[in-house]
Amino acid sequence: MIDTHEDLRARLTAIGQEHVLRFWDELDGAQRESLAAELSALDLETLPALIASVLEATPHESGALEPCELIELGDDRATQARDARAREAGAALLSEGKVAAFLVAGGQGTRLGYDGPKGRFPVGPLTHRSLFAYHAHRVRATCRRYDATLPYYVMTSTLNHDSSVAAFNEAENFGLEPDQVSLFQQGMLPAVDLEGKILLADKHKLALSPDGHGGSFAALMRSGALDDMERRGIEQVFYFQVDNPLAPVFDPVFLGHHVLAGAEMSTKVVPKSDPHEKVGVLGKIDGKLGVIEYSDLSDELAKRTDDQGRLVFRAGNIAIHAMSVPFIRRIASGDLSLPVHRALKKVPHVDANGVQVSPSEPNAIKMETFVFDALPLAQTSITQEVRREDEFAPVKNAEGSDSPAVTSQMLSDQGKRWMKAAGLSQPPGPVEVGPLFALDQEEFLATLTRSDFGPVFDRS
Ligand code: UD1
Repeated sequence: MIDTHEDLRARLTAIGQEHVLRFWDELDGAQRESLAAELSALDLETLPALIASVLEATPHESGALEPCELIELGDDRATQARDARAREAGAALLSEGKVAAFLVAGGQGTRLGYDGPKGRFPVGPLTHRSLFAYHAHRVRATCRRYDATLPYYVMTSTLNHDSSVAAFNEAENFGLEPDQVSLFQQGMLPAVDLEGKILLADKHKLALSPDGHGGSFAALMRSGALDDMERRGIEQVFYFQVDNPLAPVFDPVFLGHHVLAGAEMSTKVVPKSDPHEKVGVLGKIDGKLGVIEYSDLSDELAKRTDDQGRLVFRAGNIAIHAMSVPFIRRIASGDLSLPVHRALKKVPHVDANGVQVSPSEPNAIKMETFVFDALPLAQTSITQEVRREDEFAPVKNAEGSDSPAVTSQMLSDQGKRWMKAAGLSQPPGPVEVGPLFALDQEEFLATLTRSDFGPVFDRS
């Protein structure tokens, strides 16, 4: 329901934001309706507290940071037995159809400079398979392996919802059943100026941006996805990011460790490649598990090493989580709340005279919440260390580290390792293994027939 203009004005006046209706008399009917809809989608009652919490930059305290416990990597028998037990527990959960996959793909992808939803970005070294296709094929391959129908939820934002839906429609859901897939939008929050006043992107438009992946909890609830999960008997959610085509969606070992520990929210980490790699670090902050963003970790702590010469804070967050459905419900319903982060940005806007301004200096604060801020709220968590080369090849930047060239190379290298294990000779150029051919080396070896010799290994 859209508020009437006078009602809206009264509610905005009550929170000191009535200036956003400054150009109302100049707007046509459609523009008024669109502005009123944007405002109605905001929680105007809680906005002042949110804005107040980000107006001042609070100094970050890193003093009470300690490394966290890890389920460490290892090749010894005990580790293999430990992981085999976890695999069995995870596999049971998957066979019973009790896990959902949840992809977050609502971000702006500004660093990559790609015109389109990031999910459409082609990363397959030879077939140019897109990120969306990699993930959906993993979901399909897992359903096939465990003979189960596992639902797949994708969070977008107004920035890319229609184009993401179009990508799924064009590809006929990448072979998934229509009622297995749902795409829904996350919430948006307005940018405010340094006095806390909401900025207008245009006379009839707020300067809105996605509310961060911490908005997942509310979006899962608002969209009905959480109800849908409960109806289907889903107990655990496998959370991952769109930028990583190596994300081992529904990994049974990770899910197994998570459920065997009775954890509410768990995380995968890789050893950081260097002290300044741009990943958050899992650690204990004032005794509670959490993520310290790379921008908040001091140089001294980033470089600190232990007596074996390893980085003390090496547990790099690869943004893969397992979360129990009741935990998501508790956060989404507001029983537990996430802190709001501030980011100082240059935000183009119209000023009080209706003139478009493109600031050369940061002029605004954007507000976001982060999914990993739910970690300290979980009663139990596990943090599992995994191999980067098998699980983490994100596409973030146009060039250099985390760029498409590196991702493509890593995908190809994984295929070559599997070929080597199968005793196949490796071509000088790239290779590509589709998830429907094999999800891991074991499956690759089992699937391979005499007519499969690459460089593309695929099944439909
Ligand atoms: C993120 C993590 C970092 C981690 C790294 C691993 C944050 C703040 N930091 O960094 O700890 O080590 O990934 O790759 O997230 N997204 C939404 N909605 C939003 C914002 C983001 O869906 O409102 C999604 C994006 O589409 C993307 C993911 O979240 O899939 C990551 O967002 P991004 O801003 O790229 O995070 P990074 O800075 O790379």
